Amino acid sequence: MAFNKRVKIKSLLESDFVGQEVTLMGWVRTKRSNKNVSFIALNDGSTINNYQVVADPNIIDEETLKRITTGACIKINGQIVASQGSGQSSEISASSITILGDADPEKYPLQPKKHSLEFLREIAHLRMRTNTFGAVFRVRHALAYAVHKYFNDKGFFYIHTPIITASDAEGAGETFKVTTLDLKNPPLNEDGSINYKEDFFERETNLTVSGQLEGELAAMALAEIYTFGPTFRAENSNTTRHLAEFWMIEPEMAFYDAEDNQDLAEDFLQYVIGYALEHCKDDLAFLDKRAADEEQGKKADQRSEMGLLDRLRFVTKNKFERITYTEAIDILRNSNPNKKKKFQYLIEEWGADLQSEHERFLVEKHFKKPVILTDYPKEIKAFYMRQNDDGKTVAAMDILFPGIGEIVGGSQREERMDRLTQRMDEMHIPQEEMWWYLDTRRFGATPHAGFGLGFERLVQFVTGMGNIRDVIAFPRTPGNAEF
Ligand code: 4AD
Ligand code: MG
Repeated sequence: MAFNKRVKIKSLLESDFVGQEVTLMGWVRTKRSNKNVSFIALNDGSTINNYQVVADPNIIDEETLKRITTGACIKINGQIVASQGSGQSSEISASSITILGDADPEKYPLQPKKHSLEFLREIAHLRMRTNTFGAVFRVRHALAYAVHKYFNDKGFFYIHTPIITASDAEGAGETFKVTTLDLKNPPLNEDGSINYKEDFFERETNLTVSGQLEGELAAMALAEIYTFGPTFRAENSNTTRHLAEFWMIEPEMAFYDAEDNQDLAEDFLQYVIGYALEHCKDDLAFLDKRAADEEQGKKADQRSEMGLLDRLRFVTKNKFERITYTEAIDILRNSNPNKKKKFQYLIEEWGADLQSEHERFLVEKHFKKPVILTDYPKEIKAFYMRQNDDGKTVAAMDILFPGIGEIVGGSQREERMDRLTQRMDEMHIPQEEMWWYLDTRRFGATPHAGFGLGFERLVQFVTGMGNIRDVIAFPRTPGNAEF
């Protein structure tokens, strides 16, 4: 006989099971007892809602009841009955309870009280058993599913781009090396440098920072593709928005120009956020309240004007603001925080790279809605972006979100061979190593465009979690690779 004949709490709560004999399995959140009866709040992960188990000491032996402590895993057989208490419409009257796994109350670190997010990060192997993290990871799942559904429904193809590569797509040089060489005694060339010909791949390799370049190759055959995979950046940024290992979604489309690209990105973001609103109601209601409680602890001028749910609905219903980098610089230069020298980095002239304080000013204070910033100076953007006719800017776009800053980065790509190779030379990107990329411009080139969405930043926006370490199960950041 199969072990797993359980009913999930989610389905128990969605339809009428009263009168039926069922089996439940899950983890004990709390137990309250008096002489006549014990009430157990059971959570099985299927929903944020606990289910009430009623255990009569005349039926369930004392030894078993004693072992039902917070964190223990139990299996219950019993009948679903209409509930007398308020708060739930039904409960299970236990006819037998089996302890699947004890949790020593002296040692189990999660107790039914509020733990800080910092403490929970130290026990990330257990934190998914809390309401907050259960909700975050169910929402994360729904968003990942919505990403695939959106692109599949639109006829895009999912491409798996390599994780080990020999290129640094963004050219920022922040890669993790991949090698099987003996670090204590590496083979050397005559000039003393490491001889990577002796290495596993017979060349220098690293973990990918982006699947874009390979995505472009696929788009030149399948026309509309996307990647959704892990990417790795060895930037030493200890911020609430940066991970060393994060997941990125990168659509790449033949026959799209910069405006088509912006339209797609806006529609896509509105769709996936709308999907979460529709399919994660209980979890988002909980997270909305959690975020509101957290806001209470902030100074008045740092509180956001909208609650989490209002913010999500607002973003799905209102068009994003579209402005050029040049317009943004004018706004920032004349802004109060710039004039009063409140910005850490003052905006003095055209060409300055925007910091997150500037991005957040535009989104949160000036426009009060998501902003698509376009046409950046070519000096501060990657080599593959299409050069505009002004000779100064490229057809880049960044999408800025409230509370997050940059959530999307993308561009129309430079499809003209002469312009592309000229830019590569200027930026010291060796053409020989990129022969395969240049072949797309050599054979059957076409205007095309794409973007990258940082998946964890999206999950942060939707769940209202302030720190990116709290929306990925096991975060990798400088100095931290536990679990
Ligand atoms: O702006 P980025 O660097 O763009 C690219 O990698 C392009 N190849 C994308 C493309 O056009 N196909 O990164 C894209 C997004 C950022 O907007 C941000 O949301 C996220 O990836 N991101 C990070 N998220 C978490 N931790 C980090 N260290 C991140 N770096 C970028
Ligand atoms: Mg970027």
